[in-house]
Amino acid sequence: MKQARLFQLQENELPPAETTKPQTTRRERLPRLDKHPDLRQRLLAFCRLKAGEIWEDPVSGHRVGVLNAAREEDVQRLTAGYRIALAVNDPPYNIKVGNANTQQLSKIDLKDYLVFSQKWVSHTVAVLAEHAHFYVWIGADYREDFQPLPDFIILMRQWNATLRSRNFITVRNQRGFGTQKNWMWVRQELLHYIKGNPPFHVVYTDIPKILKGYYKTVGGKRTENLERSKSDTIRPGNVWVDIQQVFYRMEENVPGCYAQKPLKAILRILETSSQQDDIVLDLFAHSGTTLLAGEMLGRRVFTMDIDPIFAEITIRRLEHYRRTGKTGWQWRNPFPELEVGEG
Ligand SMILES: C[S@@+](CC[C@H](N)C(=O)[O-])C[C@H]1O[C@@H](n2cnc3c(N)ncnc32)[C@H](O)[C@@H]1O
Repeated sequence: MKQARLFQLQENELPPAETTKPQTTRRERLPRLDKHPDLRQRLLAFCRLKAGEIWEDPVSGHRVGVLNAAREEDVQRLTAGYRIALAVNDPPYNIKVGNANTQQLSKIDLKDYLVFSQKWVSHTVAVLAEHAHFYVWIGADYREDFQPLPDFIILMRQWNATLRSRNFITVRNQRGFGTQKNWMWVRQELLHYIKGNPPFHVVYTDIPKILKGYYKTVGGKRTENLERSKSDTIRPGNVWVDIQQVFYRMEENVPGCYAQKPLKAILRILETSSQQDDIVLDLFAHSGTTLLAGEMLGRRVFTMDIDPIFAEITIRRLEHYRRTGKTGWQWRNPFPELEVGEG
């Protein structure tokens, strides 16, 4: 049977090439779902949640809903009176991704995008704890006056009685897009706001400190910066250059997803900006990276996706991690039942 053959392959062995298909489908057992409406229809049969339903994790108390972030009632139902210490949101950016303007990440009129943003931000702010962190990933389209990044930043001023801007982080991607006539676009933006005075825990990268030369006299002794530092490695600062973008050879890769954030980035946010047993909120689950990071670090995560397929993938990723210790499926299929009887 094809399924048995597929899953007997060794860890780093590639699936058999199917020469008539585009590259991504040759490599991954499930193609980008936003480009395959027919496949989406078949996958819906394997989803345990329907629109409006919430899955309660019997082990760690996480929650995953098929809900709409723009609906106040949905956010209230998901959070059920609990106060959120950390919100990490990665909404659709209103930018074409990989030259595809597809249903899930389609570009809408900027005014409508801001109305949508206004709703999900205010529903999130309403459930924050007295002291809380609020992060949002957001993009800028150079072909359209860098929308929506500046518009979103200005929109956020609506909440300046509650939230204070804290930082503006840029994550550098290894691969980018652009032509020989333009600077290659390798950036992802992450805005950080706080409510009250939440704790922040310093973390370090694996990048060694190499620059000496900043001298200071301490206790009568002339010291240079490496002697004085608390760590041999540098802090991430607000330009993160040490995070690999997810691609099909990485264990954490989730085939079918097209906007997956690297686990390392989300773990960093949770480590610095939340503590054990805190509740973390993510209204745009997709591949379930925030849920997985919460499980790894002992935070409870409440998350949702408007799409039942991504809610299902999110739950399956957690279950797969608990069963195998693996953070994703690499090129394998999160829906193996799809392959039964095929071939
Ligand atoms: C950029 S992706 C999030 C990626 C995620 N951080 C990860 O690492 O996989 C955005 C997700 O938001 C979902 N989405 C779009 N509109 C939504 C809405 N109104 N409410 C909830 N989810 C929505 C999409 O289905 C998509 O899965």
